[in-house]
Amino acid sequence: MSHRLLTPARLGAFELPNRLVMAPLTRCRADNPEFAPTPLMARYYAQRASAGLIVSEATIVSPQGRGYPYTPGIWSTAQVEGWRLVTDAVHVAGGRIVCQLWHCGRLSLPDFHDGQPPVAPSAINPEWNMFSPTGMKPTVTPRALSVEEIAGVVEDFRSAARNAVAAGFDGVEIHSSNGYLIHQFMAACSNRRDDQYGGSVENRSRLLFEILDAVGCELTFDRVGFRLNPMMNRFHGLVVEPDTVPTFDYVVRRANDYGLAYLHLTEPYLPNQLEGGVGVIEEVARHFRPLATMPIVSNGGFDPARAEAFLSEGLCDAVAFGRLFISNPDLPERVARGAALAPWDMERFYQGGEAGYIDYPALP
Ligand SMILES: Cc1cc2nc3c(=O)[nH]c(=O)nc-3n(C[C@H](O)[C@H](O)[C@H](O)COP(=O)(O)O)c2cc1C
Repeated sequence: MSHRLLTPARLGAFELPNRLVMAPLTRCRADNPEFAPTPLMARYYAQRASAGLIVSEATIVSPQGRGYPYTPGIWSTAQVEGWRLVTDAVHVAGGRIVCQLWHCGRLSLPDFHDGQPPVAPSAINPEWNMFSPTGMKPTVTPRALSVEEIAGVVEDFRSAARNAVAAGFDGVEIHSSNGYLIHQFMAACSNRRDDQYGGSVENRSRLLFEILDAVGCELTFDRVGFRLNPMMNRFHGLVVEPDTVPTFDYVVRRANDYGLAYLHLTEPYLPNQLEGGVGVIEEVARHFRPLATMPIVSNGGFDPARAEAFLSEGLCDAVAFGRLFISNPDLPERVARGAALAPWDMERFYQGGEAGYIDYPALP
């Protein structure tokens, strides 16, 4: 193996000592009434500071954006102070970390909103099951946001970006993928609006660009990335439709003008993910690389060998590993040594306290 993964890279303002990015991973360990990051979380991230770049777990921009138990936020002083523990620990350990900014939209439950339905572009139930504090529950029909409320969402992302800077993050990643609010606006199947946020591709992607514009008031665009999962199909209530690829073509071309740090692109990786989709593309980076002038971080079921192949073909600039970074805190070192990779324990992804969280050992 040529180990391109272990060579330095530049993504906007970020100088990475290697091309292994830690993917954003929700771990539900902010188990306090404030949803503030804890010293345990600081330890977990510091253990993984040898990543070229860490993307934090998805972090809620406002109470309205909640959708899971014990996921951290970044709207309150206590949360900013909690994140400061994390960013300091990562920086002391020599790493770099950006905050993934998140609004769940309709992928949520009334349990998180005083019994009221969650918000969405349109009142369409994603027909999914979500974690509640008392077990899995089916989603409900959400309430469509008014135009005034959409302006409030944009403002929430702006102030979350400001808080991320105050908390010591090196930058932010906009979570515009995986079927959450921004993706719900972009997908025709979840957006039936007839105002300036619905209908045409321009209108459906308006929220994303308004959020980018707002976040750009708080930090320079070379410290801002965004995430797309264009082939999300029959998952989280979305399907791939004939209009999906043209929508993302437009989004990527338009995002080029911003001078962003990177585009984070997820490849299809779930079993049977593309089945039944109309207009699917099997290789996401191969399609979008020629359209994008910004650096690309690829993700989705990669092992180091496939990551090397992608890098040597020039399909991306870095590769984000999710589950492998859960179970291999020293993943770059293991790649350098050609060492065996430890398996992850799915049962402890979203629960378990210290177990399955900070107890995966580094190589001696
Ligand atoms: C436990 C877990 C939590 C995740 N949380 C997030 C998240 O907070 N934000 C996000 O964009 N993706 C999230 N994902 C998706 C991962 O970032 C990644 O796309 C996925 O795991 C595929 O990459 P991998 O094969 O390297 O694990 C999560 C995945 C897992 C397994």
